[in-house]
Amino acid sequence: MILYGSQSQSLAYSLSQEVGVPLAPMAYDRFPDGELLIRVDTSQSLPGLMAVDAGTLSIDGPAVAVASTATAADHLELLQLQDIARAAGADPVITVIPYMGYARQEIAHEPGQPASARAMARAIGATTDYVFVVDPHEALVCEYFGVPAEAVSAVGELATGLSLSSDQPVFLAPDEGAIELAETLQAAYGCGSTDFFVKERLSGDEVDIKPSATDVTDREVVIVDDIVATGSTMATATELLYDGGAASVHVSCVHPLFVESAYSRLRRAGVREIVATDTLERPVSQTSAAAPIAAAIADLL
Ligand code: R5P
Repeated sequence: MILYGSQSQSLAYSLSQEVGVPLAPMAYDRFPDGELLIRVDTSQSLPGLMAVDAGTLSIDGPAVAVASTATAADHLELLQLQDIARAAGADPVITVIPYMGYARQEIAHEPGQPASARAMARAIGATTDYVFVVDPHEALVCEYFGVPAEAVSAVGELATGLSLSSDQPVFLAPDEGAIELAETLQAAYGCGSTDFFVKERLSGDEVDIKPSATDVTDREVVIVDDIVATGSTMATATELLYDGGAASVHVSCVHPLFVESAYSRLRRAGVREIVATDTLERPVSQTSAAAPIAAAIADLL
């Protein structure tokens, strides 16, 4: 049985197709004071492994709770899904977090700050048996749940969405820490080379980026990152690449947060193509993280 947050419906459907597990009929309500109420809609026909017995919902076998936690409301929905699954007797309860918010606050970056990812993870870990997180910004977060937790990579899936014409593209990471993403995408694409920029963040929406050593003259360049948020990293990198003579710049990321004017900012910078997964459901989410998630959870179903 798959239970899913309101912001992860498309990925939940793709996952259900991959693993052959039905989607529960979910309903999303909000009280006048703003409180969220997520529920299995028991007025709908329930899949075979789910039933209402003596007024209680029961789930026979495993339940997969899927919800990205980009916002506080999404996070709450996930906790509610887990509670439904546990109370219904699902065994095991498997939690899938396609995009884990707060993962960039994996430690207290300044004295007096929280390790927000740890606080989130502890809450999520309280009502589940396993956790799977798609490309967490920091792998360290998997240690915070208090139950077995694993990172799943969907970077390779981005290769299927790219429309490149040469067999010598350059896959560039915006900073050295992301070079593994560029190498994974290059390997999945099957040709081309990899390199990275040197990036310094100046503020929330401003970055300083220095070019890589690779000569990009007349080459197709794919910049790959885990997250595009404001788009400042990608837009700044794109401008540098065109200044360096790149033939075209393609942007790819696992998690398309795309806050504020990120989309138009990238297009105005001349980005030819934007490819992302459905860990966050946006117009650019043309590839799916469902297959790697399915492979990771298969043995538990
Ligand atoms: C940060 O280290 C992440 O990997 C991304 O580079 C960052 O979140 C992108 O943010 P923005 O789109 O706002 O530049």
